[in-house]
This record gives sequence, C-alpha cells and structure tokens, in this order.
Amino acid sequence: MKPKVFITRAIPENGIAILKEHFEVEVWPEEREIPREVLLEKVRDVDALVTMLSERIDSEVFDAAPRLRIVANYAVGYDNIDVEEATRRGIYVTNTPDVLTDATADFAWTLLLATARGLIEADNFTRSGEWKRRGIAWHPRWFLGYDVYGKTIGIVGFGRIGQAVARRARGFGMRILYYSRSRKPDAEKELGAEFKPLDELLRESDFVVLAVPLTKETQYMINEERLRLMKKTAILVNIARGKVVDTKALIKALKEGWIAGAGLDVYEEEPYYNEELFSLKNVVLAPHIGSATYGAREGMAELVARNLIAFKNGEVPPTLVNK
Ligand code: DGY
Repeated sequence: MKPKVFITRAIPENGIAILKEHFEVEVWPEEREIPREVLLEKVRDVDALVTMLSERIDSEVFDAAPRLRIVANYAVGYDNIDVEEATRRGIYVTNTPDVLTDATADFAWTLLLATARGLIEADNFTRSGEWKRRGIAWHPRWFLGYDVYGKTIGIVGFGRIGQAVARRARGFGMRILYYSRSRKPDAEKELGAEFKPLDELLRESDFVVLAVPLTKETQYMINEERLRLMKKTAILVNIARGKVVDTKALIKALKEGWIAGAGLDVYEEEPYYNEELFSLKNVVLAPHIGSATYGAREGMAELVARNLIAFKNGEVPPTLVNK
C-alpha cells in the first residue's frame, strides 16, 4: 500500500504528478486556505503532509496526526512550523531553498526600482487619464525619483536570497553592505560586499533590503529606533517576513519623512489591509508574491516531491531543516 500524503493547496501539477507515482495523494481543492478544523481532520491518517506558509503546524496538528512522519513546507521560510516540536517527535521538516532564490531576488529588485522611481503612481497617473486631462506632454519636475546606479545597498540577511540580491546590485555599480549573524568571507570576496553592524548599515545605505528568516532574533528587528537611523532619502524593501518590521513605526517613518519610501511584499498578518499604510504614496505594495514565477513554483513543487520520495525510500530528505 502506498503511503498517504495530504497537500493543503493545489501546488503545480508537475509536483503532484510525481507524488502520485509514489503516494496516495489528496489535495485540498479550494482556493481559500484550509480551515483549521478541516486540516486537523484531514491529517488523521496521513504519513506525509505538504503545507503552505499560511498554515500553523504545531503540537495540535502533530497530536491529530499519529502517523505523520514528514512535513514538507512549500516555501523556503518555515517560521509557520514548530520545528523543535517536530524534531522531538521524530518528524522530518523540509523546505524549498535554491529553486526560488532568483525569482525572489528579482522581485526584491522589482520593488526597489518601482519604489525608487514611483512606478505605481506614474502608472495610475497615465492609465487614469490624468496625464491627458492635464494636457501637459512633459514636465521637468514630474515624478522625480531616486537614483539607483552607483548608490549604496545594505542587505540584511546574507543567505542565498540576500547574496542573489547583491549579485544583481553589482550590475548597478553599487557599494554593497551586508549584515548577517556570521561573516561570509567567500561571498564578500565574490560579490565585493562589506560586512557592517546593523546600525551602521542602516545609517549608510540608500536602499535597505530585508532578506532574513523570521526568528526570535529578527522579530521587529527594524523598529522605530532603527528606522530613525536610516537616511531621509533611503528606501526600505521587505521580501522576508512582515514581523521583521514594526509596521506602526514604519508608517510613522513614511509619514514623517524619516525615510523616503518602502517596497513591501510581506506583512505582519496576511492577508493584510491597513488604510493608513495603503493611503501613502511612497509605498509599493505586493501580496507576498516574491517567489511567484512559473519556474520557481514548479521548482518548489518538484523539490517537495523529491523530499517526500527520499523519505519514502528511507533516505534523508535533501532539504531537511531539523537540527
Ligand atoms: C517563502 O518561500 O518563504 C516565500 O515567502 C514564499 O515563497
């Protein structure tokens, strides 16, 4: 008999097709997230579970799933999973690194450039007919943005995604600063990046990109005090997790001009709505789509499948996160 896997959302078909060769597969078919009580019911007889970052996987889920041996998160971040508890219970936890690195780094740059140049405001101005209504073809002071080429970028978190952001920054002739728990001498050499303590990085950077995982140490790392260290002309980009930034302080910073703008893909709660933040013109907002390319999402689906198949074959899954 094939082992049973429950997948909490319709991931790309390539992953599901591979899994079907090895597992009895059930997929939650709805667009909305699976209600908690349904999840607890569905896991009762499964050996493996594929989860999204929107599901909290904790003791309650493990208690409801006596046969569960592996949780494969369809994301590189796994702050939604109590890994310590899973480890204690002998349950593998895996994630999807590498396959989404370039897509996510590209998106950090999308936000950076769109915020620096006021792209969304300009798009609204054009498509709403306001440009035509004004009857002015070109104005020397309209839509002035911030220069990017040759400026200083500060990258907070210098793992795969942080380094991929830096690699792109080289093409923009930038000075590259980074902050991370530990020094990365190889990356420093390859990318010409300089390590800086966080406060110094914030003081010196024109663009600050957050690429850290959410942990006890990084939660609200960017708070009021730290936002006040940044340049008035600086732009903050968050492609990590919303809770790395104190949103109240960020709104204050954006309204009072301590910083020039922010490009955000992630929020303290998701889905998110905040009239005060959303009414600001110096922000560019996306609904957590950093890894949302066909290639990355298919790569993630395949990696999930590879992890589960390794587990089924009695091998250590390739991207295990338990310590
Ligand atoms: C992740 O993988 O952690 C992203 O936030 C979603 O792809």
